[in-house]
Amino acid sequence: MKNMQSLHKVLIVDDEEVICDTFSRLLDYAGYTCQTAQNGKEALRMLEQQHFSLLLSDINMPVMSGLDLLRTVVEKHNDLAVLMISGVDDRDVAINCLEIGAFGYIIKPVQMNELVINVANALHRRELEIINRRYNQQLKELVEARTQELNLAREETIMTLGKAAEFRDNETAQHTIRMSHYCQMLARQYGLPESQCELIRLASPLHDIGKIGISDTILLKPGKLTDEEFAIIQQHPEIGYRILADAKSESLRLGASIAYTHHEKFDGSGYPRKLQGYAIPVEGRIAAISDVFDALTTNRVYKSAIEVDKAVEILKQGRGSHFDPDLLDIFLQNMPTILRIKEQCADHK
Ligand SMILES: [Fe+2]
Ligand SMILES: [Fe+2]
Repeated sequence: MKNMQSLHKVLIVDDEEVICDTFSRLLDYAGYTCQTAQNGKEALRMLEQQHFSLLLSDINMPVMSGLDLLRTVVEKHNDLAVLMISGVDDRDVAINCLEIGAFGYIIKPVQMNELVINVANALHRRELEIINRRYNQQLKELVEARTQELNLAREETIMTLGKAAEFRDNETAQHTIRMSHYCQMLARQYGLPESQCELIRLASPLHDIGKIGISDTILLKPGKLTDEEFAIIQQHPEIGYRILADAKSESLRLGASIAYTHHEKFDGSGYPRKLQGYAIPVEGRIAAISDVFDALTTNRVYKSAIEVDKAVEILKQGRGSHFDPDLLDIFLQNMPTILRIKEQCADHK
């Protein structure tokens, strides 16, 4: 028992030397290792240099009051148990000390047993608090790690679904990645809340998920499509919407909206519902610009990429007719960022 106690160092702070000596002797006798300080400032200095388990402090002292010392150590040394000792039996002061964070309030004169019991109790509570804090920290880290894992799984699942759809159409996997970054950048510059920008990045790879429901003979047909075949291709937004619309998660529901509206045009001439202007949700208006720009500026099986300048001209021709004019202006103003994304996520040769 004595060995366990001697592991605990106690710092006694009192401006009266005789009290420091008395307490020191009493606690020494009970097996604790004690050191003393004459005032709060000195105590703080010692606490910076050595490790103590418990601080036993007088309240009325020159230089720095016991209450000020208590406030500082509660902030800076949260592994330290603090017991306050006072010659004044004042309930308000005692409650104040406990509220600030002291483990106890002892009134002088103090009996040896009373002192030792209070010290042992405070150290026991300190032990429990340290264990509890450590446990909470471990729990927090575990939750964070699991959340990260779940987020990654969610992101990879969405990305993989998006890629699967693009593969059917002989588009490259990089298309979905570039497009999702274009969408996020545009959403940010448009001033949408960051959480929504992140969701748009996450969900936009699903824009062509509906192609899963279009037959290969039409989807992969070389050459010109008949009107009938084109009408079938035009069903992919609605098929995509139907695949995703019942989802409970925010990202998949946003994916449903993007799938449904990425071929709508600002003047109402798009498909499938001929939505017009702001009736097209913002994520659909954002996806339309990003999707067309990427389709124009990258090689596809059936066509070569065109120069960025030429693509910009084509986008400008669609300002207000195909594309939301404000969003298009923002997209074009941010060309350096767009080109950086294009470069970083270029197709693998
Ligand atoms: Fe599409
Ligand atoms: Fe696309």
